[in-house]
Amino acid sequence: MSPAERPRLLIIVGSSRPGRSGHHVARWFEGRVHEHGGFEPVVADLAEIALPFFDEPRHPRLGDYAHQHTRDWSKIVGAADAIVFVTPEYNHGPSAVLKNAIDFLHAEWRDKPVGFVSYGGVAAGTRAVQQLLQIVTTVRMVPVFDAVAIPFIRRVIDEDGELTTSPLMLSSSAAMLDELGRLLRLLRPATARV
Ligand SMILES: Cc1cc2nc3c(=O)[nH]c(=O)nc-3n(C[C@H](O)[C@H](O)[C@H](O)COP(=O)(O)O)c2cc1C
Repeated sequence: MSPAERPRLLIIVGSSRPGRSGHHVARWFEGRVHEHGGFEPVVADLAEIALPFFDEPRHPRLGDYAHQHTRDWSKIVGAADAIVFVTPEYNHGPSAVLKNAIDFLHAEWRDKPVGFVSYGGVAAGTRAVQQLLQIVTTVRMVPVFDAVAIPFIRRVIDEDGELTTSPLMLSSSAAMLDELGRLLRLLRPATARV
């Protein structure tokens, strides 16, 4: 399957602070998507996209956006077939920047399979994922059960930003990507090419 024929998997980097780990984790996961071969990965880094705090006067359900930054974000998410959030855990929840980016849109998320690559301390970001599950189902995304959860993130990233990959990180990535593909076929039988 050529890259143009593969469904697009949008990998959203959910942290934006200087010195963050999120973009390293996302780059590592992008490598797993290439290895898997079922999706064409596209990375959306919320630090680069730099949305302001939600500032649309009308509910995103209406899709009547006042701002160019929202229309640009809408185009990026709208073009995706499936989504993976790369999420840190801040105070046992997701980052504000990630919640804000979700709130900006509505129909663009709808009926898309979604998975999570989380990271943090002992809980590996899983508490953030639990909160995100409630949020993503409200915008009608369809979460997959399988997920990648990386504990003690600072210990697995070297000074060049490379992650030490464990067998569990590999098997959970493959399982999540397989499941995203399976759900995509169920949700969009006419267009899903995985
Ligand atoms: C404001 C803040 C709150 C945090 N809260 C948690 C937490 O609740 N649980 C956890 O495991 N790690 C927590 N951490 C540690 C983060 O998991 C760790 O710093 C991680 O690298 C954050 O992702 P980032 O580097 O992409 O920003 C927190 C870090 C920050 C900056």
